[in-house]
Amino acid sequence: MVVGDMCFLYKDIFVIKAPKKSPMLLRTAVLMFSMVCVLVIFSVCLKQISTEAKTKFIDFKVIDNLTRSRVKQTHIPYLLHYPKPVSFNRNECAPNPVMFFTILSNQRSGSGWFETLLNSHVNVSSNGEIFSVRTRRQNASSVLQTLDRVYNLDWLSSASKNECSAAIGFKWMLNQGIMEHHKEIAEYFKHRSVSIIFLFRRNLLRRMVSMLANSYDRYAKLLNGTHKSHVHSAEEADILSKYKPFINSTSLLEDLKDMEMKAEKALEYFNSSRHMILYYEDLMRNHTKLKDVQEFLGLPEMKLTSRQVKIHKGPLSDHIQNWDDVNKVLTGTVYESFLEADY
Ligand SMILES: *[C@@H]1O[C@H](CO)[C@@H](O)[C@H](O)[C@H]1NC(C)=O
Ligand SMILES: *[C@@H]1O[C@H](CO)[C@@H](O)[C@H](O)[C@H]1NC(C)=O
Ligand SMILES: *[C@@H]1O[C@H](CO)[C@@H](O)[C@H](O)[C@H]1NC(C)=O
Ligand SMILES: *[C@@H]1O[C@H](CO)[C@@H](O)[C@H](O)[C@H]1NC(C)=O
Ligand SMILES: *[C@@H]1O[C@H](CO)[C@@H](O)[C@H](O)[C@H]1NC(C)=O
Ligand SMILES: *[C@@H]1O[C@H](CO)[C@@H](O)[C@H](O)[C@H]1NC(C)=O
Ligand SMILES: *[C@@H]1O[C@H](CO)[C@@H](O)[C@H](O)[C@H]1NC(C)=O
Repeated sequence: MVVGDMCFLYKDIFVIKAPKKSPMLLRTAVLMFSMVCVLVIFSVCLKQISTEAKTKFIDFKVIDNLTRSRVKQTHIPYLLHYPKPVSFNRNECAPNPVMFFTILSNQRSGSGWFETLLNSHVNVSSNGEIFSVRTRRQNASSVLQTLDRVYNLDWLSSASKNECSAAIGFKWMLNQGIMEHHKEIAEYFKHRSVSIIFLFRRNLLRRMVSMLANSYDRYAKLLNGTHKSHVHSAEEADILSKYKPFINSTSLLEDLKDMEMKAEKALEYFNSSRHMILYYEDLMRNHTKLKDVQEFLGLPEMKLTSRQVKIHKGPLSDHIQNWDDVNKVLTGTVYESFLEADY
């Protein structure tokens, strides 16, 4: 049922009038009845409006300007879903609605950490990067089939909470087929009322360091011969952060711009779906942001936890081999603040 539709009902209720010549008792009863109805429906509408009023703005350096006026979230109604999985029975939770969501992000933007936080909620199943497997994103029809399985709760992963999931989704990196098949996917998201959490990292230079270090470790395997993208202890983080990548300063400005443009494009493709925009840095600084996320997903609020530990801490100058070049290239540009910022 579309909650939004109910908000039109109140018009009809105002039309209920007691007949002029009916006994006093009947008129009072009709009046009371219509007042109760109005109250109930207003409370539903208010709840809906407060959930949808989550207008977020993207504020990358350049994108900022382009989108501030555009990405005003309109009142996009969403459907509540009651999936009927074939692989198990939802049992006593069958009457509970399920929110469909996806996390759209980029590698090394905190999405792994964010997903472990979400999955610590008893009613969330976020199934990881299911489109990292190439055959699932080969063409639009294999993408849509995969989506159907996920949202029907028939995708079984270690994150599945099965019958009592109140929000079901996964994370999707922008380089995993979503941009290539954006037309069909945007249509699907709209049609099935999938809510989107855009998770971006403001400091793209830090993201670059993390990407280079991670891809170096794929070969170097600094942790006793095992490659790890995420760690759970300060010692492991220390070892991984010892490697200082070299950043190509010739292409740096171009590369940063490309990263921004890609994020902007994604926003544009999917701006007609219900969405919120989150920044890694804001999550790090302010855990109450997680309240907004839970509200957006229509979840009962809980304290969320993750065991993951951040790898690169402290000033960036400690983490880049050719710091002087990088510093020179970015100073005086819109990206200058990346040199200073924490996180
Ligand atoms: C923002 O947009 C305006 C108008 O297009 C332009 O004049 C201004 O230079 C832009 N600012 C930035 C920081 O890009
Ligand atoms: C789409 O990809 C799937 C999986 O790789 C393949 O089996 C199927 O034949 C493809 N369909 C089309 C229409 O190309
Ligand atoms: C959340 O999960 C718990 C435990 O499985 C369940 O009792 C509860 O009904 C679920 N809440 C929602 C909103 O689905
Ligand atoms: C690496 O192996 C040594 C010896 O087996 C062990 O003491 C140490 O904790 C391991 N370090 C990591 C980061 O796994
Ligand atoms: C740096 O980028 C430039 C321009 O893309 C390229 O020509 C050059 O080979 C790169 N240098 C290194 C060391 O990768
Ligand atoms: C979505 O982006 C398109 C292309 O830039 C734009 O025409 C449209 O107005 C945007 N829609 C919303 C709801 O912002
Ligand atoms: C933290 O986030 C909450 C929710 O988004 C916001 O209301 C609050 O102002 C933020 N606090 C700080 C210090 O940024």
